Amino acid sequence: MEQFIIRGGSPLVGEVTIGGAKNAALPILAAATMTNDIVEIENVPDVKDTRALIEAIESIGVRVQRTEDSVVRIDASHVKNHPIENESIKRIRASYYLIGAMLGKYKDINVVLPSGCDIGLRPIDQHIKGFEALGAEVDTAHGFINAKAERLLGAHIYLDVVSVGATINIMMAACLAEGKTTIENAAKEPHVVDLANFLNSMGANVRGAGTDVIRIRGVQKLHGTRYAIIPDQIEAGTFMVAAAATHGDVTLHNVIPKHLESISAKLSEMGCRIHESDDMLRIVAARRLNATHVKTLPYPGFPTDLQPQITTALSTAGGTSIVSESIFENRFKYVDELTKMGARIKVESSTAIVTGREYLTGAQINAPDLRAGAALVIAGLMAEGFTTIRGIHFVERGYENLPAKLTALGAKIEKTDSERELQKFKLKYA
Ligand code: EPZ
Repeated sequence: MEQFIIRGGSPLVGEVTIGGAKNAALPILAAATMTNDIVEIENVPDVKDTRALIEAIESIGVRVQRTEDSVVRIDASHVKNHPIENESIKRIRASYYLIGAMLGKYKDINVVLPSGCDIGLRPIDQHIKGFEALGAEVDTAHGFINAKAERLLGAHIYLDVVSVGATINIMMAACLAEGKTTIENAAKEPHVVDLANFLNSMGANVRGAGTDVIRIRGVQKLHGTRYAIIPDQIEAGTFMVAAAATHGDVTLHNVIPKHLESISAKLSEMGCRIHESDDMLRIVAARRLNATHVKTLPYPGFPTDLQPQITTALSTAGGTSIVSESIFENRFKYVDELTKMGARIKVESSTAIVTGREYLTGAQINAPDLRAGAALVIAGLMAEGFTTIRGIHFVERGYENLPAKLTALGAKIEKTDSERELQKFKLKYA
């Protein structure tokens, strides 16, 4: 069984380069099918989720090539429009982006219903409401979502909840609708803005992304482009928290410090020093972290995708912290695993009360989802002794070369596939 083995106790020190944003790459890969011209996308992270989306579009005839490191070339001029349901797409959330992307061009789309990380109820009513407002008929049956429309017509759509996925999906469909669409109460995440910039580079007319009102004027068709995806806010945040939790000193390259402000502010409160310049950020954590309170919120608030990581760091901070999760209702499943390592965390509905203790101890633990898995890796790096983490396929959905990047910062971590490799690692770092 594949697992990570970690020998904790070394501070992370050194430099790391952050990859392209997974949650921008997924809609951008889907949106690249909206033209028959060639699209080249730079900075595409090579992780399980992007591979799954690429396999899904290949299964309907899209030609995809990784031309050089992190560049993906897409040719969607030969699509055969049949249901999209290959095995890997069934496991990801972003399959539904193919509806928004392909509805305008193909008029009748069938995609297997989305799954993704089990972090709570994940309804898609706002996506459906948006497609219907644009004139589509949407139905779910036999595990598929079907959307069809003779014509898409621009509309005024008010989202009942701030949803990244619904904002992105409606934005894509509206680009090829006739007339003007307004999305109110839109999500403002950096990847929403990145997708809008990408669509505009293909000839779309999207204004206001990054604010809560997005205006889209439909165009007849989109053209080819070459576009570079933004750096991954969550990968960067994960390394920042890992540096803080291990009392390290890490310089991150290829970041947009503005996207990291809520994380930098919180880590500063916790006693870290942060230095920023252009596309670089350095975090220094010279002493034990202070306790603090964290509440997850849509951007520019503190991201839910970093809640497990910061909670883990707070498990050894001085004092009691309160972490409130306001986006997903089931995102504390990793707490049971941290408890095995000695953490003192009490979860009451959507709040975790974290009583900081001096140290964690290594244990055998299981990753319940992607970001929780990353948090448990951080816990292993913080802990005394050896930690093994199972369920690492979750982590590989969203982090490229995580063990290699951590090793370059002085961590002792390996991905192992056998008891022999595990024992060898233990002997090496006994
Ligand atoms: C995206 O999920 C990300 N996934 C998630 O990252 C991230 O946690 C989340 O946004 C919030 O930032 C991808 O980009 C692929 P939402 P998404 O729609 O779009 C409710 C990761 O680890 N809602 O913004 O599914 C929903 O239940 C993943 O990389 C509705 O009620 O999230 C939630 O409470 C995990 N109806 C809230 O909105 C809807 O139709 C926000 O969800 C849609 C959402």
